[in-house]
Amino acid sequence: MTTPLAFDLKPSAQPLSDEDRAAVLAAPGFGRHFTDHMVTIRWSEGRGWHDARLQPYAPLQMDPANMTLHYAQSIFEGLKAYRQPDGGVATFRPEENARRFQRSARRLAMPELPEETFVEAIDLLIRQDEAWVPSEPEQSLYLRPFMFATEVGLGVRPANEYLFMVIASPAGAYFPGGVKPVSVWLSEEYVRAAPGGTGEAKCAGNYAASLVAQAEAAQHGCDQVVWLDAVERRWIEEMGGMNLYFVEGTGDDARVLTPELTGTLLPGITRLSLLKIAEDLGYATGEIRLTKDDWRQGNADGSISEVFACGTAAVITPVGSVKSTSASWTVGDGGPGPLTTLLRQKLLAVQSGLAPDPHGWLHRVL
Ligand code: PLP
Ligand code: COI
Repeated sequence: MTTPLAFDLKPSAQPLSDEDRAAVLAAPGFGRHFTDHMVTIRWSEGRGWHDARLQPYAPLQMDPANMTLHYAQSIFEGLKAYRQPDGGVATFRPEENARRFQRSARRLAMPELPEETFVEAIDLLIRQDEAWVPSEPEQSLYLRPFMFATEVGLGVRPANEYLFMVIASPAGAYFPGGVKPVSVWLSEEYVRAAPGGTGEAKCAGNYAASLVAQAEAAQHGCDQVVWLDAVERRWIEEMGGMNLYFVEGTGDDARVLTPELTGTLLPGITRLSLLKIAEDLGYATGEIRLTKDDWRQGNADGSISEVFACGTAAVITPVGSVKSTSASWTVGDGGPGPLTTLLRQKLLAVQSGLAPDPHGWLHRVL
């Protein structure tokens, strides 16, 4: 039995004024403003996890030879805290993020933070910065747990010191345009993840590697990039930083399908939750493999009626049109489909406490 970590609480003497915070919460955007505090926990070889603190949000000092800057042992998570109808606050399936964080750590040869410490660190920060949890619909407090190497040196090997942190940022809509369908570019040149690589891990390097493809999508007039598998360049994997869903058929007979987790996709918690919600609503669901030609064909013959992307930050975003080097097509009528809209409402209703939570997904913090 290990003893639970005790956190040293050092609240800020100068939190932002109520007036200034209200100005931020009026138009939070995404990831632009941060709350008054942060949590830090250190790990070192020999001592394990230690020095757990809640302290004022502040810049870090870093040695130029910090190993993270050179070799990118850096992982993160993303989850949200939602204001509940009784004024309390809940997070959504934080233990799933804790487990994915452990799997990411394992893949990057980093130490695994115990699940309960991960959840406790987030709860502490939310309790301290509760005033930052917005109460408007579609708004939330985005939590960003992350961990990186802090050892100094240029030898290429797993570091023997790490820092785990949690910061928080009030969030409005992730895509500034609101729930408008996005246009996507099928990336045939760049890939996100290869078999045996780090695609399943939420590591910083995956995002660095994605940026050039996102820029290419923008050059082609598209909002987002869609990743194909690295080997055959034809199996649909994900969209940018979100998982994808395909609706086959319409009405009560519709089937709600998502690409199977082959090892190169990020196993999204929104994806996992939507499989359950769709099933609870009585729809057939499935994890499938679908090529870019299947997608084009399915659109042409009408068998694919809706396509949407899902993730914590943007919840559900309809995909309106597709472009690649060889073809372009519109998904359905180009607008948000009925199941896309329904699933989005259902998920948001559970998260904000406006619908029953039959699977016990909400973790009450306050
Ligand atoms: N795919 C990628 C590459 C992501 O970065 C994310 C976001 O975390 C997701 C999918 C969606 O995951 P989740 O639903 O857990 O936010
Ligand atoms: C998501 O929550 O869907 C994300 O991909 C988070 C992103 C800001 C990295």
